Amino acid sequence: MTLANSPTRGRILLTGATGYLGANLLRRLLADGEDVRVLLRHGSGSESLAGLEVERVYGDLRDAEAVHAAVRGVTRIYHCAAKTLWTAGNADQRRELFEINVIGTRNVLQAAIGAGVERAVVTGSFAAVGSERSDPLLPVNEAVPYDPFARNMPYQTTKAFAEQECWKAAASGLHVVVATSTVLIGPHDYKLSRFGGLLCDFAHQRLRAYAPGGVEFASTRDICEGHILAMKRGRRGEKYLLSTEYMTSDGLMELFEEVTQVPRPKLRMPGPVMGSYSRTLEALGLSERIHGWASSGIWRLMQLRRHADIAKARQELGFEPTGITSAVREAYEHFVERGLIRFDLARGHRRHPGVFGSV
Ligand SMILES: NC(=O)c1ccc[n+]([C@@H]2O[C@H](COP(=O)([O-])OP(=O)(O)OC[C@H]3O[C@@H](n4cnc5c(N)ncnc54)[C@H](OP(=O)(O)O)[C@@H]3O)[C@@H](O)[C@H]2O)c1
Repeated sequence: MTLANSPTRGRILLTGATGYLGANLLRRLLADGEDVRVLLRHGSGSESLAGLEVERVYGDLRDAEAVHAAVRGVTRIYHCAAKTLWTAGNADQRRELFEINVIGTRNVLQAAIGAGVERAVVTGSFAAVGSERSDPLLPVNEAVPYDPFARNMPYQTTKAFAEQECWKAAASGLHVVVATSTVLIGPHDYKLSRFGGLLCDFAHQRLRAYAPGGVEFASTRDICEGHILAMKRGRRGEKYLLSTEYMTSDGLMELFEEVTQVPRPKLRMPGPVMGSYSRTLEALGLSERIHGWASSGIWRLMQLRRHADIAKARQELGFEPTGITSAVREAYEHFVERGLIRFDLARGHRRHPGVFGSV
């Protein structure tokens, strides 16, 4: 396989720098000596960007003019920003998802074409990769199309539509590559992701139960490396699935025990019971407010047990994933450093778990 020529260096625009992936990618790019500009929304990012030497420009992805201004003068773009929602949401939320994830991506790509940007890497989601109908547990790769008629969340659909914007831009001549991630785990989790929240709950013994299942994780270190490789070696108009490791629920609980030195919840609920509880919470509109196993973001993912086939990224990009043990350890240490995990609580003193607890 011939690898594409590397792009020239020059200023990079990074979107989503205050988010989970972006905060990690920004640090990696700065460590590599890159000159980075970040697009921020007003009022965002004070903690995640504190102390970092980086050019800041302000604007919303939905504002095409602001995006054009942000793109001017850069040679490469990492478009990581997106809105995530793990419930069906209401009409306003769905509209916002569409405008940010689809129209926002279009704005970035159109601006890139207009400004003669050399390359763009857009972050995709495993949630927008289809499943094998014959056996949903079979590992899937980039070639499995997203099925719009399956039971999907609006977020997934917007990520699939965002890819279409990439293919249109690629057809117009832009060297754009989609770097698709599975569930992130690692440090710099300033917005408290689903599994970051789960780790905090676990460390404080606020997690009362878990259930069987499994999920593909991408360590933030690996996913940053994968994005950089996609920028250097990705072929125009191609999608690369990046992931680190599949973990079962039991494997994850064991790893959390090892890292936190706290025992897992005694209750291992049967899947259907956890499923009904999770659906009830969702019907009551409480799913997004809790971090436990029953939150739709965790339950839904875990019960799907989807596996990723990353052969294409290995072959074409030279992507070599590491493992998630160090990612969970780094996530834990970073939460401790920031005071989100406190030892007095982590040593077994329960805090009031709230009305519904963290199941
Ligand atoms: N986290 C995962 O497990 C996961 C898995 C697969 C794929 N992904 C993909 O990875 C990418 C990054 O996800 P993440 O988890 O890092 O997200 P995140 O932590 O929720 O952060 C989202 C980022 O996007 C920015 N953003 C949102 N709406 C914006 C708008 N209208 N204008 C400008 N910026 C906006 C946010 O800025 P503010 O600070 O202003 O809100 C924030 O920096 C996304 O494309 C997501 O689909 C994530």
